[in-house]
Amino acid sequence: MEFDGRFFSTCLLLAATILAAKLISAFIVPKSRKRLPPVMKGWPLIGGLYRFLKGPIFLLREEYPKLGSVFTLKLFHKNITFLIGPEVSAHFFKASESDLSQQEVYQFNVPTFGPGVVFDVDYSVRQEQFRFFTEALRVNKLKSYVDQMVAEAEDYFSKWGPSGEVDLKYELEHLIILTASRCLLGREVRDKLFDDVSALFHDLDNGMLPISVLFPYLPIPAHKRRDQARKKLAEIFASIIASRKSANKSEDDMLQCFIDSKYKDGRQTTEAEVTGLLIAALFAGQHTSSITSTWTGAYLLTNNQYLSAVQDEQEKLMEKHGDRVDHDVLAEMDVLYRCIKEALRLHPPLIMLLRSSHSDFSVTTREGKEYDIPKGHIIATSPAFANRLGHIFKDPDRYDPDRFAVGREEDKVAGAFSYISFGGGRHGCLGEPFAYLQIKAIWTHLLRNFDLELVSPFPDIDWNAMVVGVKGKVMVRYKRKELSVNQ
Ligand code: HEM
Repeated sequence: MEFDGRFFSTCLLLAATILAAKLISAFIVPKSRKRLPPVMKGWPLIGGLYRFLKGPIFLLREEYPKLGSVFTLKLFHKNITFLIGPEVSAHFFKASESDLSQQEVYQFNVPTFGPGVVFDVDYSVRQEQFRFFTEALRVNKLKSYVDQMVAEAEDYFSKWGPSGEVDLKYELEHLIILTASRCLLGREVRDKLFDDVSALFHDLDNGMLPISVLFPYLPIPAHKRRDQARKKLAEIFASIIASRKSANKSEDDMLQCFIDSKYKDGRQTTEAEVTGLLIAALFAGQHTSSITSTWTGAYLLTNNQYLSAVQDEQEKLMEKHGDRVDHDVLAEMDVLYRCIKEALRLHPPLIMLLRSSHSDFSVTTREGKEYDIPKGHIIATSPAFANRLGHIFKDPDRYDPDRFAVGREEDKVAGAFSYISFGGGRHGCLGEPFAYLQIKAIWTHLLRNFDLELVSPFPDIDWNAMVVGVKGKVMVRYKRKELSVNQ
């Protein structure tokens, strides 16, 4: 009997334990598992890597229709979770650095930008350095940069003959290096050291390869050239800064702004920091702007409706302001603005933005599905994919600058993160106004002074580049003209 009683209570305990375990597993474990994002199928090691390296956009095009706006790719020991579309990406853009950080995922920039700046420093210092950028790009500064942009464009295109054929991509790349040198790196570089400095920047550029993202310090020739170039640039800027300081000379450029910048504790920027910040500015702004200028041209020259519209706008502005092109005149060019913005929607040069997650968070898709994303994941979003979502942008693959006009405003249709060519939120691009002014200044000059015709096929996208741009040449036939209007 005693045995029976013990046996009975043991059975009861066992049954209760099993029931409790079942309840826990039914309500807790699977619930949290159920809420994890779906995982991309395939061989986790090679399969995912192969598809990722083939091009993240191709991967997104295949997986988004199957898995939806939130899914995870397992790559080696890492989980990369994609958040695609404004409904799920708000946290990506708004989260604090302690929740979603840039530092780890953008570490590969450190050997290029150099020590002591941007992703090599704590967030508190980086924030202060981004304040220096903000100050260097304020409207009063932009006004003087615009005068330099306009002068550079006039000078550059004065070298074109009365008519001819050019590779527009090559021409705009060169013009933008010259303009960036003038506005950002300063008069000394632009006037005396341009060839040396642009050769060094070329080596820095070529030292940033897809392999550098995974292994930034791999001892390959491209990385060695990058490191030597960085050293020489540091020497050149140290001597320019010293000579400005000793002559007590001040200029209207970003170099001067960085020299004059001070941290909250009163400390001045060092020469090495100034060099690093200038390199970062050039990397952020040079290819992105030249690529966008080229796409803008390719679309305008294949869309008569919009080419006429931007030309009409130029004529109206000339009636109002004469030949004057300055910050305020450029600011009035709404049609040209929309044409650039639409080229940039279809072809954002930064196709993938990344963060590293340090805390769990949840997202809700537009279909109402909730997912929990555990800390430790790499979080990715893609301007190139999100900018073509059919539920945000009508007929998304069509070049239609009017989609941004008053009344349609598709870039705001699902809130602030509907259009993300410049990122947004906490780390939104600080150079956006500079970029628009630069591209507008160039196209204003071209539209007023040349008849242009695209003579090569509409260009393809070069998905292999780190900053994704235009593949091959963009051949344009030009004929000089003079846009004259009655004032
Ligand atoms: C068409 C031209 C440009 C495009 C498409 C572009 C795009 C972007 C994007 C997508 C981001 C966000 C990166 C992220 O969230 O991870 C960004 C950030 C940034 N951009 Fe640009 N950019 C352009 C031009 C420029 C220029 C001309 C400058 C400066 C001269 C600049 C300076 C910056 C800086 C400093 C940041 C970092 C902001 C932060 O993290 O707080 N950009 N840009």
